[in-house]
Amino acid sequence: MTIVTEATRLRIRPLGALGAEVTGGSLDPLSAADEATIKQAVRDHLVLRFRGYNLDDLAFTRLAERLGTLQPSPDYTRSRKVYSSESPAMTIISNVKENGEAIGEHGDGELNWHTDLAFTDYPSEYTMLMAREVPAAGGNTWFANMYKAYEAMPDALKERVAKLKMKHQASHNAQGGTRPGYKDIETNDVREMPGPIHPILRTHPVSGRKALFLGRRFGAYIPGLPLAKSEALCDELWSYAALPENTWAQEWQVGDLIIWDNRCTMHRRDSFAGQGRRRMHRLCTRGTRPE
Ligand SMILES: [Fe+2]
Repeated sequence: MTIVTEATRLRIRPLGALGAEVTGGSLDPLSAADEATIKQAVRDHLVLRFRGYNLDDLAFTRLAERLGTLQPSPDYTRSRKVYSSESPAMTIISNVKENGEAIGEHGDGELNWHTDLAFTDYPSEYTMLMAREVPAAGGNTWFANMYKAYEAMPDALKERVAKLKMKHQASHNAQGGTRPGYKDIETNDVREMPGPIHPILRTHPVSGRKALFLGRRFGAYIPGLPLAKSEALCDELWSYAALPENTWAQEWQVGDLIIWDNRCTMHRRDSFAGQGRRRMHRLCTRGTRPE
């Protein structure tokens, strides 16, 4: 019997310190060979950009499901439930208002460096953003390579934090306001804020490589340390988190799809206030507990 192995039709071109452009072939339907190519490429490059494939929301959802189990954002993180009727796990990230009401989350301000759902027990594995509308300027999404952040740390710092953990506070958003499910929480003391405790250094379950895992600076606390020591150590760790040479920025075009691996990256967004409409459709896949 002859086994015919289908060849991939996708081509992969690195973009910088992390990130690669995927071109060629077809994403819908997606062959088994092309699925394997995408999985290998995201393992190698951490962030993938697909430009010009023109996927609608259903095709986008089909592609996302090939990468894992879709995970809607927890309802308690939202001030308003934003779903696409075609894809219940899809979230809308947008500054657009219709009839005076936001159609999506996050407005038009800067979003600081973070890892998606780090403030839960099971941070997202992959996040996928599809650009449906983009502003004339601003709103770029930046990515940082957290393997390289780990590699940039001095050995003494690696050893110091090897067994330490960090609390990723869950009750407050990046602007310092309480999330809808935590309205009763009045403390501003990071030691008392609720949130999961994750290792500072995590090992990627697929690549086996170590990565610095910080989640978000605001509200971070290293249990067991006095507050001042925790703050100083957090600051020291953050000084390695997004060195310019370890980052890459995505400048969006309509139809761009970006897939990234939250287990070895962080991301942030430039503001775009006054620059026009921006509408992104987001899907995430469920991750495992960081180890
Ligand atoms: Fe995010």
